[in-house]
Amino acid sequence: MSKTLVTSALPYVNGVPHLGHMVGCLLPSDVYARFMRMMGNEVLYIGGTDEHGTPSEVGAAKEGISVEEYCNGYHQRHKKTYEDFELSFDCFGRTSSDANKEMVYHIFEALDKNGMIEERTIKQIYSIDDERFLPDRYVTGTCPYCGYDKARGDQCENCTKVLDPTDLINPRSTISGSTNLEVRETKHLFLNLPKIEPKLAEWVKTREPYWPEIAYSIAQKWLKEGLQERCITRDLKWGFPVNKEGYEDKVFYVWFDAPIGYIGITKQWADANGKDWKEWWYGAKDVDYVEFMGKDNVPYHSISFPATLLGTGEPWTFVKNLKGFSYLTYEGGKFSKSEKRGIFAEDAVKEYPADYWRYWLMANAPESSDSSFSFDLFAAVVNKDLNGVLGNFVSRVLKMTESKIGEEVPAGGKNTELEAELIKTLQEHVNDYFKYMNELEFRKATNELRAIWVEGNNYISVAEPWTVIKENPERAAAILRNCISLIRIFAILSAPIMPKIAEDMMNKLGLSLKDVTSIKDFNVEKEMNALQAGHKFSVGNTLFERITPERIEELKQKYGSAK
Ligand code: 2FM
Ligand code: ZN
Repeated sequence: MSKTLVTSALPYVNGVPHLGHMVGCLLPSDVYARFMRMMGNEVLYIGGTDEHGTPSEVGAAKEGISVEEYCNGYHQRHKKTYEDFELSFDCFGRTSSDANKEMVYHIFEALDKNGMIEERTIKQIYSIDDERFLPDRYVTGTCPYCGYDKARGDQCENCTKVLDPTDLINPRSTISGSTNLEVRETKHLFLNLPKIEPKLAEWVKTREPYWPEIAYSIAQKWLKEGLQERCITRDLKWGFPVNKEGYEDKVFYVWFDAPIGYIGITKQWADANGKDWKEWWYGAKDVDYVEFMGKDNVPYHSISFPATLLGTGEPWTFVKNLKGFSYLTYEGGKFSKSEKRGIFAEDAVKEYPADYWRYWLMANAPESSDSSFSFDLFAAVVNKDLNGVLGNFVSRVLKMTESKIGEEVPAGGKNTELEAELIKTLQEHVNDYFKYMNELEFRKATNELRAIWVEGNNYISVAEPWTVIKENPERAAAILRNCISLIRIFAILSAPIMPKIAEDMMNKLGLSLKDVTSIKDFNVEKEMNALQAGHKFSVGNTLFERITPERIEELKQKYGSAK
């Protein structure tokens, strides 16, 4: 059995995820993990919260609680939201865990031993009143590029320029507001990326056949511009203390320990389940590693993280394929919790079942460019694709069979040219669906899924069992039997995207997704004959609820409109 390791970028623990976060890595990684499991692969699907760094310290200070307490609370909130969204993580862990600390220390020591760590003396802002150095966001001041007076030490929110705290004009402490600051020299540790670069460039070249063009070109661009040494330590309290003499009062930079978190969380999972994390990460055989992330993360995962692992000289698992997503806008603007604009994931599932959102988001995934969410678009897709195409087919077929024949798969009758055509067309769509899923083209894959459902509707419209039954009940029985088989096929193929609805569909047929062994080499003709005549089903409830114009208005009012 081949092994597939799937990771989703680890969301910052501070803040709650909105639909853009869901579609920007979390949901597609789940769809892929589910698909790969159904293909019969051994899958390990890892996620978690990214907990270190200044945002957590600042957030905790604002709420007046300890940073540990702050992270515990937000971690639970993320975890619950993803469970509600049916994300099937094998482990949803934390970058602040002991398992990750062990991993970070090991990797740092290996880099140091291998001569990849340099000591440098740098100039940093020191706050005399706060009695501490002020890294990144701990300094606020005027942006030297655009004059914005609330620019943070790491980046100007107004013009997006990346800054160094010492660039700011009229700097002040974010903690106390004090301007009693001075520039002091301090020692930090740097990862010698230029030394790793030749090996890295060679490795990146080997990724060309696997990575989407955009990811490959981002990596090439960075390599072409030449890599700089990168500071991997910070003067903060919240983080893993640096395990090197003379640096004990500093911690590792959040971007150093975050991607190592994938390995640390795997160890968390392995320790809890009596497994060996090395079978996935260290000297591992036959592991295909696929990573999902927002496009702003691509340089970190295509360059920085692989360079960190390469620099150790140890046999780590390297990413085979990576997928970066663009952004989702809300009613044409930005999602913003503070301005109460946009629907956040934890609220979304209170309004409609997760599968409605999952389908909409995958059908509109921001793959080649940004895409836009609006309640009108959401309702249109739910009403048309889910209700009109899939839901309608299922209830029509089951109700008609029940009323004309009874709650069981009808016996007798023969297939004709019409069914041969149907099978041929469906097989083509199924092949494309599998191709796109394997290529991580989720929007196209979802389109194929929809096309498969549409074929069911086309078939029943042309075959007209309600008319045929009057003259030729045997033939009508064959048509309805085929339609019931289609419901099972639709359920199986929909399962990676809409796991709950798919299970409901299977349950109507007295079946469960758990009984499906592998969908590898999915053969439509064979699957059309999987149900025996006499097999019981139940009509049950309708699968989807229509979204009325009144509800759309209500949702718009509740979640705000764009600015
Ligand atoms: O961009 C982000 O949300 C980061 N927290 C992603 C980290 S991904 C991995 F490196 F942990
Ligand atoms: Zn600026």
